[in-house]
Amino acid sequence: MNDQFYSIAKEYDFLNLLMTAGLIFLWRAQLKNLQNEEVDAALDLASGTGSNFPYIKARRIFGLDVDVGMLILQNRRFPFCYSILASAEKMPFKNNSFDSVVCSFGFRNFGDVEKVLSEISRTLKTGGKLYITEIFRPKNFFWEVILKLLFKLYVIPLSKLFSKNPSMYEYFLSSILGFLTYQEFLNLLNSHGFKLLKIHHWGPLKIIKLVKA
Ligand SMILES: C[S@@+](CC[C@H](N)C(=O)[O-])C[C@H]1O[C@@H](n2cnc3c(N)ncnc32)[C@H](O)[C@@H]1O
Repeated sequence: MNDQFYSIAKEYDFLNLLMTAGLIFLWRAQLKNLQNEEVDAALDLASGTGSNFPYIKARRIFGLDVDVGMLILQNRRFPFCYSILASAEKMPFKNNSFDSVVCSFGFRNFGDVEKVLSEISRTLKTGGKLYITEIFRPKNFFWEVILKLLFKLYVIPLSKLFSKNPSMYEYFLSSILGFLTYQEFLNLLNSHGFKLLKIHHWGPLKIIKLVKA
């Protein structure tokens, strides 16, 4: 499914805005507020078109994505940042390269989440911060019904009107329902040496800040 992002790269940010009814700006602003200070080097993992970049407090920003279409747009928008075509499971960086790592809406797409966490742990300095924005599999029936209704009545009809590849938006729902719950994911993060510092809850969507202990 990774290569499918190519088909929606150009429309991705516009549809993201539409389908989140503008909330995407609020979520990215919260990500920015979680960062206490400007660091030297930050990695945006699964960076897409680089829409997180204005919200990352770092002198040098590296955006890594596996999709060339996304990276071309990213490089056009942010020519002074570093655009890296690679897989999150095997990153072309030395150990302890980054002061912070950001990943928004990336984890659900990774083939091997454990491998990505090992790679983040390898490339992030001890004491470095990890910021993740993600929609997790709801742990209760209420949120599962709300999500399904939201997709069936709003997101998927809109995608049929505006997207070149509406099946991607059906994939988004199945990738949420097939992903880990927040608690399962947090256990995995803990087992890779990350400790939770702060969290914003938006139902199944969470914006979390962790530290590499
Ligand atoms: C939903 S988009 C999120 C983009 C961006 N982070 C944002 O907040 O708008 C998911 C991105 O993950 C990328 N991706 C999927 N699998 C990947 C992998 N194994 N390694 C790196 N990037 C990956 C896709 O190409 C896509 O750009």
